[in-house]
Amino acid sequence: MDGYRQTNLARWDELVGVHTRARDTYDLDAFRAGRSTLQPIEIEEVGDVRGKRLLHLQCHFGMDTISWARQGAAAVGVDFSAEAISLARRLDEDLGTGAKFVCSDVYDLPGKLEGAFDIVFTSYGVLCWLSDLAAWGKVISHFLSPGGFFYIVELHPVGGMLDDRDEGLVVSEPYFDVGPIEETRDGSYADPSAVVEHKTSYQWRHSLADVVNALADSGLRVAFLHELPFSTFQWLPSMVKGEDGWWRVPGHDNVPFLFSLKASKP
Ligand SMILES: C[S@@+](CC[C@H](N)C(=O)[O-])C[C@H]1O[C@@H](n2cnc3c(N)ncnc32)[C@H](O)[C@@H]1O
Repeated sequence: MDGYRQTNLARWDELVGVHTRARDTYDLDAFRAGRSTLQPIEIEEVGDVRGKRLLHLQCHFGMDTISWARQGAAAVGVDFSAEAISLARRLDEDLGTGAKFVCSDVYDLPGKLEGAFDIVFTSYGVLCWLSDLAAWGKVISHFLSPGGFFYIVELHPVGGMLDDRDEGLVVSEPYFDVGPIEETRDGSYADPSAVVEHKTSYQWRHSLADVVNALADSGLRVAFLHELPFSTFQWLPSMVKGEDGWWRVPGHDNVPFLFSLKASKP
């Protein structure tokens, strides 16, 4: 594992503890009581998972993986954080959903997990941690059965370029991949006020073309690509939650904040 990923891993290991206390984003009590962490977007677009083998990449501590298992999938979650996987396994033991978990870097997974899957799933805040989408696409294709599909719902790279300022939304980040971008900060998206030891991380920008081409080059066929003008959480401070539950920047219904994509393996 390279130095960038080691730095990111140390931060993600620490964030597991931070996130178990971040009840607004990760409400473990409600989850234990049966609440699904899946959003209506992926529930509708992935469809019926009963009896399907589902591989969840970058599962954090497994709430979505277990939510898919509760819907009837034979779900396997993967994350490179040993802290996250340990908590995911404890949650599954307590809840008895039969989800399985593997501690692995996405790129190393073919050497650590056997078998093929009907669905490979990943969501919300995953691509920015990956330096090489071409290799990522090959891992996805490796684990899909013929006829199976990959599904992602993710923060839109255009939304990721924007910043809230007094004068409104401004472009403050590049759209195209410019190599690793170093960030040093306390807290996380789930608890901005938390004080952490591991403050530095490295992230990568990926255009929509990078995503589509990584999947096409690995032999998958895109079934759909949707761009959505809202977020599932308060991504920018000026976002307001609508009656439908989605977050929007007032006056900016024309900015994409999420995308979803389904691609099949012939
Ligand atoms: C924002 S979280 C994903 C949140 C997810 N949507 C959920 O279910 O809560 C990103 C996850 O990616 C994991 N991660 C980052 N780089 C990785 C890599 N190279 N291989 C595997 N997991 C990685 C982190 O440990 C973290 O759990």
